[in-house]
Amino acid sequence: MRARACGKLILCGEHAVVYNHPAIALPLELYTTVEVEEGFGPLTVDHELWSPRHEIRMEEALDHLFPKGNAEIQIRSELPVGVGLGSSAALSVAVCRAIGLEGDALMEKALELENIFHGDASGLDIAVAARGEALWYVKGKPLQPVPLPPCAIVVLDSGTAGDTKVLVQSVADRYDQLEDTIEDIGALVHAARAVLEDPTSLGELLTENHGLLKQLGVSTPALDQLVDLALGAGAYGAKLSGAGGGGVVIALTDDPDHILKSAASAGVEAWLARSGS
Ligand code: MEV
Repeated sequence: MRARACGKLILCGEHAVVYNHPAIALPLELYTTVEVEEGFGPLTVDHELWSPRHEIRMEEALDHLFPKGNAEIQIRSELPVGVGLGSSAALSVAVCRAIGLEGDALMEKALELENIFHGDASGLDIAVAARGEALWYVKGKPLQPVPLPPCAIVVLDSGTAGDTKVLVQSVADRYDQLEDTIEDIGALVHAARAVLEDPTSLGELLTENHGLLKQLGVSTPALDQLVDLALGAGAYGAKLSGAGGGGVVIALTDDPDHILKSAASAGVEAWLARSGS
């Protein structure tokens, strides 16, 4: 059977969502497609685009799902790995769908796989990959669809990858010092929900969220520079998106071309994730 699942962009609330605060995330129109056929003997996996670190975790996740082997799996993905776009969640959901899981059973099994990639994941990435819609997400609570911001979203790529498992653990290790910042992120996400359809106010909150993620120690100089580049090119707001440590920055704007041109002149790879219309 063949199935696919989408990637995601976190608008706000990453890391704090692990500690039961809300987060808001959007689906990306980039997909991982998995085909599973019955096999005889050990599991065989045909894939491309995986970093060695991901490859090891992917093998572990698939061994968990197919403990007896006897399957041939083909994985194709439009999502780059380790840059905050939800590639491991898309894979986890797609492979569970390809073996016929749906509903709560799909979510539960996909989260088991995602935890092999990410440690103690909040389930946010899995929820968006499975539902394919913008969500207000609180761990263990019913999923709530939310409207998409009525403006364009540009993604700027730092050109490096972060390791979500390591970053989530590094926040956990310093939780006592970081608790106030994590609480502030939670409060900011509540404020963001009230202004989701007002790009100016939402943008300001996203930039503030980036500052709080910096305080958590998950940003990098390259990500901070991308935020400055986007703001300098007129973005309503910009922040790192995902676990950080590398990966991408998102920028809200009504003039994506301006940001895309500024990025190109700075030698930064950037693309339009949503046109806003
Ligand atoms: C990773 O995409 C988002 C984090 O909040 C981890 C998680 O929610 O599992 C950093």
